[in-house]
Amino acid sequence: MKILIIHGPNLNLLGKREPDKYGNTTLEEINNNLKNEASNLNVEVNFFQSNIEGEIITKIQQTMGIYDGLVINPAAYTHTSVAIRDAILAVNIPTVEVHLSNIHQREEFRHFSYIAPVAIGQIAGFGADSYKLGLLALVNKLKDIL
Ligand code: DQA
Repeated sequence: MKILIIHGPNLNLLGKREPDKYGNTTLEEINNNLKNEASNLNVEVNFFQSNIEGEIITKIQQTMGIYDGLVINPAAYTHTSVAIRDAILAVNIPTVEVHLSNIHQREEFRHFSYIAPVAIGQIAGFGADSYKLGLLALVNKLKDIL
């Protein structure tokens, strides 16, 4: 089973960026933890981070025929990007949306997600663990689907 993990804009700054909201764990540490988790689950994971919407869309398009599932933290694009939503629909890849912070507890503009309606589900508010939980949930779901 092959899973792609996509991190959206500004997540390259994790560890330094608003640690009160996003924690002290760096993106590299998150990815390393996910690599361990993936090997426990016996699945292969690859990572992609971009600050550019079009690059994220191209990467999602390239999952076709290669990846079984997608874990994505679209970051601010969650609340703005019809194009990322359409890319997920276009390749029809089982997707879990994750967020470090609980977006529903924050400013109103963060409550809405363009991605949630096309995802299997959304996990938000558990810091770096949101990714781990997202990966586990996706793998369990894929075991039923595949
Ligand atoms: C985020 C929440 C988004 O609202 C925000 O724009 C981010 C990070 C999170 O992981 O909590 O960049 O996706």
